[in-house]
Amino acid sequence: MDEKANSLVKLVVSELVTNAVRHSASGGRCGRVKVTVEMLPGRVVLVSVTDDGARALRPITVPTLANHMDDAEECGRGLRLVAALAEKWWWTGCRGGPLTVWALIDPDRDLDT
Ligand SMILES: Nc1ncnc2c1ncn2[C@@H]1O[C@H](COP(=O)(O)OP(=O)(O)OP(=O)(O)O)[C@@H](O)[C@H]1O
Ligand SMILES: [Mg+2]
Repeated sequence: MDEKANSLVKLVVSELVTNAVRHSASGGRCGRVKVTVEMLPGRVVLVSVTDDGARALRPITVPTLANHMDDAEECGRGLRLVAALAEKWWWTGCRGGPLTVWALIDPDRDLDT
């Protein structure tokens, strides 16, 4: 993987792992986060981050892109960044259970377009 691909993957993984820790039971005692990074044909990279599911006694949430980007907002930037860097992102799993967030990254795409 070249330097650009490496940096993009690191940024995306960093946001998604941070989310797993902040918004799921992965951030609790004995919490785990599973990360996979796979280079697909055509040099696109598929990243997955799996969390431990909903935290006890906390509202259940799922990965949701914030609607408005207010510069003063302190939350909702992570998935916006992922959406901007990735060709596509999505999540799988059942609400409340472990969720996997996927991102497909094309290092050859010009990010200005
Ligand atoms: N792994 C996850 N499990 C459950 N909910 C999630 C998960 N990841 C994200 N979310 C939900 O999606 C929302 C948006 O995530 P996003 O990363 O954009 O913002 P944030 O984590 O709240 O703040 P920021 O990333 O700007 O510090 C979160 O506030 C949370 O409700
Ligand atoms: Mg976040």
